[in-house]
Amino acid sequence: MTDLRHLISVEAITSKQWDELYTLCRDIIDNPLEFADSCKGKVMASLFYEPSTRTSFSFQTAMMRLGGSVFGFSDPGASSVSKGETLMDTVKICSAYADAIVMRTPWEGSALAASLYSEIPVINAGDGGHMHPTQTLTDLTTICQKRGKIGGLNVGLCGDLKNGRTVHSLIMALSKFPNISFYLISPRDLAAPDYILRHLKENKQKYIEVTGLEASLPLLDILYMTRIQKERFTDPLEYERNKSVYVLTKRKLDRAKKDLLVMHPLPRVDEIALDVDTDPRAVYFEQARYGMYIRMALLLTMCSRARYTPPSYDIGKGAICKNERCITQTEHYLPNLTRNVQGGRQCLFCEKEIP
Ligand code: CP
Repeated sequence: MTDLRHLISVEAITSKQWDELYTLCRDIIDNPLEFADSCKGKVMASLFYEPSTRTSFSFQTAMMRLGGSVFGFSDPGASSVSKGETLMDTVKICSAYADAIVMRTPWEGSALAASLYSEIPVINAGDGGHMHPTQTLTDLTTICQKRGKIGGLNVGLCGDLKNGRTVHSLIMALSKFPNISFYLISPRDLAAPDYILRHLKENKQKYIEVTGLEASLPLLDILYMTRIQKERFTDPLEYERNKSVYVLTKRKLDRAKKDLLVMHPLPRVDEIALDVDTDPRAVYFEQARYGMYIRMALLLTMCSRARYTPPSYDIGKGAICKNERCITQTEHYLPNLTRNVQGGRQCLFCEKEIP
């Protein structure tokens, strides 16, 4: 893949880079043993400040299947993070030991922050409720494998669109493909954030926001279910109000297209009933397996990057972003990176508008 130093957001991936990555992924799926030593001698740092099953394990198994090695933590309390070490210092140290850093945290913009100080590629494995680009690579791979191409699709995204990072990344990515219509299905409290809606408008995408799943279901080519993200709620009553609001059942699928793809990044809670699992339209377990193959392609590509010296940044004088989940709220040395948007300024880390 040409010239992608870090993977922070899918927005940075061009169509050409996606084609190269997917071609490599298909080659790996068809001939896995030919790649068994492709990353021999390479080392991946796996820094998971937040729980994970699929992303963490698929990255680890991807590296193992390429002949490389993995170190890191799944509990930051077992590292010097518990002694107060900054993200910057942790990244500088791991970048001295490894060839790529895979990182998940609860803070929005943390992968971009880490990339400022890293000599090696930083791969965003989920930064709070912001983005999850490698889940999107998984989703795009699944659509390509199942449909042959991406384009001309009615895509329903259902659930917690406010906090669901997988949805944010997927919308950004699908906006690059032709003739996609988005059905944004969520409770009003959990609608997609302003920066996602702005992206859709700026890119002249067709979308509607609705609260009901049943009415849209017969129109959809892809239904992307997501769970209500309990861990992101500051008000437990708000979670209680919105949990279990959407439950897809086999009976409801009677009204859906015969070639619908039911996708889910997983884990699920109760939003897809177990009786859907045996429906041939349910592809979420296959989707998780494709995640390992596309991550193999990504690691193989990014671990071959030459080490580089990142530029120096001014030491920040405190956050100007008001988003309490932005990485600038906890890592105070970060520079204030912003850009002008219509009507104001936007934080480049979390992409929220600065009031
Ligand atoms: N899809 C996904 O990110 O799952 P995990 O949280 O288990 O990694």
